[in-house]
Amino acid sequence: MLPQIKDALKKLEDKELEKKYLQLITTLLEKGYFPGLEGVPVAKSSISNIDGDKGLLTFRGYPVQELAKHGSYEEICFLLLKGDLPLLEERIELTEDLLDHKELDDSIAETIVSMDDDLHPMHMLSSSILQLQSADAGCFNVENYQHNLNRAVQLIAKFPTILGTYRKQDPNFAEGETFDSLARYILYCFNEELAKQEKWINIFEQLLILHVDHTMNNSTFSVRAVGSSKASIYASIATAVNSLSGPLHGGANERVIKMLEEIGDPENVEAYLEEKINNKEKIMGIGHRVYQTYDPRALYLKENIIPRIFNEQSDVDPELDNLYQIAKKLEKTALDKFADKDIYPNVDFWSGLVMRAMDIEPKYFTTIFALGRVIGWTSHWVENMEVKNKIYRPKQLYDGFNTRHIIREEK
Ligand code: ACO
Repeated sequence: MLPQIKDALKKLEDKELEKKYLQLITTLLEKGYFPGLEGVPVAKSSISNIDGDKGLLTFRGYPVQELAKHGSYEEICFLLLKGDLPLLEERIELTEDLLDHKELDDSIAETIVSMDDDLHPMHMLSSSILQLQSADAGCFNVENYQHNLNRAVQLIAKFPTILGTYRKQDPNFAEGETFDSLARYILYCFNEELAKQEKWINIFEQLLILHVDHTMNNSTFSVRAVGSSKASIYASIATAVNSLSGPLHGGANERVIKMLEEIGDPENVEAYLEEKINNKEKIMGIGHRVYQTYDPRALYLKENIIPRIFNEQSDVDPELDNLYQIAKKLEKTALDKFADKDIYPNVDFWSGLVMRAMDIEPKYFTTIFALGRVIGWTSHWVENMEVKNKIYRPKQLYDGFNTRHIIREEK
C-alpha cells in the first residue's frame, strides 16, 4: 500500500507537507498509532512557529532573536495576546495594567507563606494558581473574549508575586517599592540588588522573552487539552506548570547546573560523558524533539548573553567561572560525540548558567522559565477558546484483557 500512498502524496505541491504526511502514514502503518502524538498536528495556531531544520523560532512572525534584542516583556505580552506589537500608548497601558494587578488577596498570600518550604517551587506555583480561583468566581464562564484576555493579563501579573511571596516568606515583600517595568519587578522577586542594575534587568528580560512560547510543546499541549473541556484559565495554566516541571521539559535547566557541579572540573567532562552514554542516560540540556540544529534560544544565550557575563574583563566568581569552563568543554565534547545524531544544546543548557550568575537558587530556575512561558500559555488558552475546538479526545490502542467475568462459587 505504501508505494501507492507515496505516489498520491507526490502530487502535493508543498514538499514539506508531503514529507510530514508520509512520516505520519508510515508510523500509522508500522505501529498502528502515534506514540506520544509525535508529529501529529492537533490544533491550528498563529502564535509561534518553528523551522527545526533552519533553527528558526518566530512569535507572530518575528524571529525570537529580534524580539529579545529589541522588545520588552510587556511588548511581547501584547504581541502574543493580541497579535501585533503595541503602539507606545498601548504598551504603557499594558505595563500599568500588569503592575496594577500584581497583588494577591491577603488570604492567598498567607496560604502561600504557610506552605511547607520543602515543597518544590513549581508545585507551590501550580497549587497557588488554583488558589487564585477563590477570588474570581466568574472564571467558569470562558465564552467572553475580552474577559478571557483580562484574566490572562491578571494571571501573568500575579505569577511573580506568588513566587516572591513564597521565596521571601513574606506577603508584603515588595511593600514601599515602585517598579517601572515587569522585568524589574520579576527580578526583584529573585534578587533585590540586581533589580537596581539596568544591565541585569536587560539580561533577565531577554532570558524571559526567549522562553515565551514554543509551539505545541508538552506544557502548551496540556493547556489546550485541559482548556478544550472549557476548564478555567487557572485549571489550564496550573496543569501547564506541572507539565513544565518534568526533567524532560523545563525541569532540565535546574539539572544542568547540578550536572556541572557534579562534573566538578573541565578535566572530568570526557569521562562523565562516556559513563552517561554507556549507561544510556540522557545528558541534561542536550537534545530537542524539534530542532535538528542548534536551538536558536540556546545560540542567542551563548552568543549574546554569556559573553556579557563571562567576558575577560569582568570579575567573575572563580566557582562560577569553573562551571562555565565545564559547560564550554561539555558543549564541545557533546557536539563531537553526537555529531551523527543531530543533537545539540537546547535552551536549558545555557539558561541555567545565566541564572546561576544572577545568584538565583537552582530550585527556582524552572519557575523563571514559567514566568516567560506564562505569556505563551495564556495566549494559547485565549486562542483555543476562540477557535471553538472540540474537546481533545485522542484514541488509545487497547492492549488489555478481552471481556471477562467474575466467577463466584455458589454458596
Ligand atoms: N543525551 C544523550 N543522548 C541523547 C540525548 C541526551 N540528552 N537526547 C537524545 N539523545 C539520543 C537518544 O538516546 C537517541 O539515541 P538512539 O537513536 O541511539 O536511541 C537519539 O538521541 C534520539 O533521542 P530521543 O530520545 O528519541 O529524542 P526525543 O526527541 O524523544 O527527546 C528530549 C528529546 C526529551 C529533549 C531528549 O533529548 C532529552 O531527554 N534531553 C535531555 C533533557 C533536556 O535537556 N530537556 C529539555 C528539553 S528542551 C525544553 O524543554 C526547553
